[in-house]
Amino acid sequence: MMKVIILVLLVSLLIEVAICVEGDDQNWSTTEHEEDLHVNLGLGKEKVTRLHFYFHDILSGKKPSAIKIAEANNTNNSPYLFGVLFMADDALTVGPESTSKIVGQAQGLYGSADQQELGLVLALTLHFTEGKYNGSNLSILGRNGALQSPRELPIVGGTGLFRFARGVAVANTYSYNATTGDAVVEYNVSAIHY
Ligand SMILES: *[C@@H]1O[C@H](CO)[C@@H](O)[C@H](O)[C@H]1NC(C)=O
Ligand SMILES: *[C@@H]1O[C@H](CO)[C@@H](O)[C@H](O)[C@H]1NC(C)=O
Ligand SMILES: *[C@@H]1O[C@H](CO)[C@@H](O)[C@H](O)[C@H]1NC(C)=O
Ligand SMILES: *[C@@H]1O[C@H](CO)[C@@H](O)[C@H](O)[C@H]1NC(C)=O
Ligand SMILES: *[C@@H]1O[C@H](CO)[C@@H](O)[C@H](O)[C@H]1NC(C)=O
Ligand SMILES: *[C@@H]1O[C@H](CO)[C@@H](O)[C@H](O)[C@H]1NC(C)=O
Repeated sequence: MMKVIILVLLVSLLIEVAICVEGDDQNWSTTEHEEDLHVNLGLGKEKVTRLHFYFHDILSGKKPSAIKIAEANNTNNSPYLFGVLFMADDALTVGPESTSKIVGQAQGLYGSADQQELGLVLALTLHFTEGKYNGSNLSILGRNGALQSPRELPIVGGTGLFRFARGVAVANTYSYNATTGDAVVEYNVSAIHY
């Protein structure tokens, strides 16, 4: 008799566990067809925005915009400074001059990630502070072959008016001072978003 009761309890416990798991499963995620997505999320049609600006990566002076935050103990033995990591808060301006109007900041990390040639890994937020896109952000994540011009960097997402963005940034070194490491880079960004 006792055995039967225990068995019944055990079976009902198992069923309950199974229901719980199934219930959790059902409520954990939902998938919608893409054609309905923009309607359900209150988004409009997809459009393309093109942005043109200059990126100022300044290592020299009293107030550098990018600073070295880490390196490996053998980074200096590597011709491409493999292992070095910088944190940047670089101005984005309309023109190439340092006094040109600022439209945003590029904030984040870049580091040397290639031992065979100069290849940086970039994880940057382009945070815009002017005009229509003031307060909206785009994210860049990818490889930057900094000695090649032009080079392409992937736009992997965005916020604000750039919600659900994807796209590409084409970069071209405008000027580079080998003594100081200061660089100005021209960017053309094409971002698809809603
Ligand atoms: C959980 O999933 C069930 C079945 O799909 C659904 O009826 C219920 O509304 C969902 N509950 C929540 C809170 O989303
Ligand atoms: C560099 O770091 C590695 C790994 O921690 C260590 O084995 C090596 O001894 C270090 N070399 C020097 C020169 O400090
Ligand atoms: C951008 O937005 C911030 C926060 O809303 C505001 O303080 C600032 O004045 C705006 N800048 C411009 C140029 O509109
Ligand atoms: C964009 O980035 C800035 C700075 O990191 C942040 O303050 C702001 O909330 C971001 N905007 C959105 C819409 O997420
Ligand atoms: C950006 O686009 C302009 C206009 O098409 C072009 O003159 C310039 O060379 C481009 N720059 C880059 C870095 O692609
Ligand atoms: C590089 O920077 C140094 C130090 O500020 C300056 O003396 C030199 O003229 C610069 N070189 C170029 C090509 O701008």
